[in-house]
Order: sequence, then structure tokens, then C-alpha cells
Amino acid sequence: MSEKEPKPVFLRACRRLRVDHTPIWLMRQAGRYMPEYRATRAEHEMLEVIRTPELAAEITLQPIERFGFDAAIIFADILPPLIGMGFDLEFVKGVGPRIKNPIGHPQDVGSLTTPPADVSMPGTLRAIKMVSDELNPRGIPLIGFCGAPFTLASYAIEGGGSRDYTKVKSFIYHEPDAWTMLMNKLVQVQADYLLAQAEAGASALQIFDSWVGLALGAQDYKRYVQPYNTTLFAKVARGGVPVINFSTGTGAYIEEVARCGGDVVGIDWRLPLDEAWHRIGHERSIQGNLDPAALLAPWPELKLRVDDVLARAGGNPGHIFNLGHGIFPQTSVDQVQRLVDYVREMSARRGARAQ
Ligand code: CP3
Repeated sequence: MSEKEPKPVFLRACRRLRVDHTPIWLMRQAGRYMPEYRATRAEHEMLEVIRTPELAAEITLQPIERFGFDAAIIFADILPPLIGMGFDLEFVKGVGPRIKNPIGHPQDVGSLTTPPADVSMPGTLRAIKMVSDELNPRGIPLIGFCGAPFTLASYAIEGGGSRDYTKVKSFIYHEPDAWTMLMNKLVQVQADYLLAQAEAGASALQIFDSWVGLALGAQDYKRYVQPYNTTLFAKVARGGVPVINFSTGTGAYIEEVARCGGDVVGIDWRLPLDEAWHRIGHERSIQGNLDPAALLAPWPELKLRVDDVLARAGGNPGHIFNLGHGIFPQTSVDQVQRLVDYVREMSARRGARAQ
């Protein structure tokens, strides 16, 4: 498949090429809202699934077979690469991820290791190879991903999810040198991991900075995050596949987020899509931005919100329809199918009118 003029609508939209319908995939599209996912997970722990290529491949394909999304995302998580650096990670049922040995002192950063991805994440790379071998002939791109350095550092320092990010922010303010060293190590490990994913067969890559906007204002973002993200995007651009720059809660400084890099900027639902695109610039593609809670609304209400996202995208080349953040586990599979069918139908009609 030629990189300049790819056929799949998702890859075309990443490059702002004309499409016959707006591509759609959903963050966390393989997950607990699907009965087939719950059935697989009932028999296997989260880390076991991630480490077993056959299981990860099976789960990755579940939403593709059921809904016909325009892209798959490899089933994995942003946190397992931290295990290779020396963190003791577990997924606690009903609680979420926990790191049992979080960073407590600046010296802890010095002892973190930076192994290459083929040593620390062989199962995920193998799963990518298996899924891309299956999906490439069918013209369905596979997205690889990693966590952005700030979001990973927040888990490494807080030891889990956080409400106020006081530990990571205190660390930044008290230990700026150790922060620099930590962010540089994370950039090195994530860049290597993403490039290995592209090599294994991923057709696009997404970097999740899920918590940065909930923690930091614009000044702190520019000083303590932007330089590292900029380096990460520059390194990953060498992989030759489109890169999606996703964050949440960054509406106050989305221009600064976009400036770090990436072919596509992923936005949450808090900003109207047209305003975000104007601020980011139309020479970049945009991904988003239906509120995931809208999928819990009755169809007429959901439809209005989908219409609004499509209207704000205005049929411009470079829109990838997605949620503003991950799908909720209580979402009905019927609503998801209706959403996929409706986005495809409406955007195809809009395209037909434009010609
Ligand atoms: O999108 C996909 O379908 C691919 C799979 C994927 C998962 N995690 C699987 C998962 C992706 C892309 C992620 C990324 C991820 N993981 C992020 C960034 C994306 C985001 O939502 O902002 C973050 C912050 C994490 C960390 C993480 N992993 C949390 C906070 C949790 C617990 C919260 C929850 O939803 O239970 C996880 C566990 C996790 N990762 C689950 C899945 C499907 C749930 C596991 C289960 O109980 O079956």
C-alpha cells in the first residue's frame, strides 16, 4: 500500500486526503461494554491477555468483526512498558492500575532502566504482527499506541490514578533535575516502543496524554511537558506512519499541545470541534469529539450530538470521528452499532452533496 496515497479512509483522513465517508473508530473500542470481551476476560487476567499475542489479537478483532470500524487499535495498555523500567504494576479488579513501588525520592529515577521494546514488550509486538497480517489484506489499518511521558510519570509517582496530582506536581517543583531525567527516560522508552510497533505492522500510532490537562495549566505545560513531547513526536515521525496526538482537558492551551507534533490532533468533548480545529490549524487532521456519555442518551439526543460534531467538521478533509475519551463500560452495543452506521451514512451523503 503506497504511503503517499493510502486507500483506507482512516489513513486518508490522517493525511487530509479526500474520503467517501468519515472514518470512525472509538477509543477503548475493545472493552467491557462488549459481551465477547467480558467472556475472554472472565478467563484471563488483564496482564495475561496483554502478554499473550493470541488473546490480545482476538480481543483487538472483536469490535472490528462486530461493528465494522474503519481502524483497529491493538489491545494493550499504556502502563505495561513501565514494568520493563522497574515498576511493579498490577491491575486491581474494580480499582484500576496500581504501581506498588512508585517513585518516592529523586534517586529512584536514577535506577530506572530503559530496555528496548523487543525485550520488554515482545507479546504486544507479536500481537501487532498477527493482527496486521490479518487486517492489511482487508484494508483495515491497525493503530499502535503508548502513553505520553507526563501521563506515565503521573502513574509512576502517584502510584495509581489521582484526583489532584499533588505528588507529581510537588515532585516537579522540588526536583526539577530528577523530573528532567524521568521525562527523558520515558521519551526514550516510548519512542523505541512506538517505532517497534510501526515496524511490527502498525499503520498509525497514537500517543495518549490522558491526564496532563487535568493536572497542569498552560505555563507548567510549556515548561515541564512540551519540550519532552516535542522530542517524542520528532523521534516517532521517523517511523513514516501518521501519529495522533491525543490529550484531554487541554482546551485552555490546545495550540501548545498541537505544537508538540503529530499529523492528527485528538481532542476531548469539552471544546467545540470547529473552534479546536481553527486554533490547531486546518493543515492538521483532527480526531473526535463526541462526549462518551452521549452514548448513554436516548437515540434522538445522541443523534443531535453526532449531527453537531459532523456539522462542525463541515465535511473538511482530515476529520476522524471518535469519542472525546474512552467509551464507558455501561454503553449498549446497539447504540454503538447505530452510531457507526449513522456516521457512515450521513458523512457519505454530505460527501455526495459536496461533489
Ligand atoms: O482502545 C482500545 O480498545 C485499546 C486498549 C486500551 C486499553 N487501555 C485497555 C484497557 C488502551 C488504548 C488503553 C490506554 C490507557 N490505559 C489509557 C489512555 C487512554 C485513556 O482512556 O485515557 C490510560 C490512562 C490507561 C490506564 C488504565 N488502564 C486505567 C486507568 C484502567 C482502569 C480504568 C478502567 O477503565 O477500568 C486501565 C485498565 C484497562 N485498560 C481496561 C481496558 C479495556 C479495563 C480492564 C478490564 O477491567 O477489563
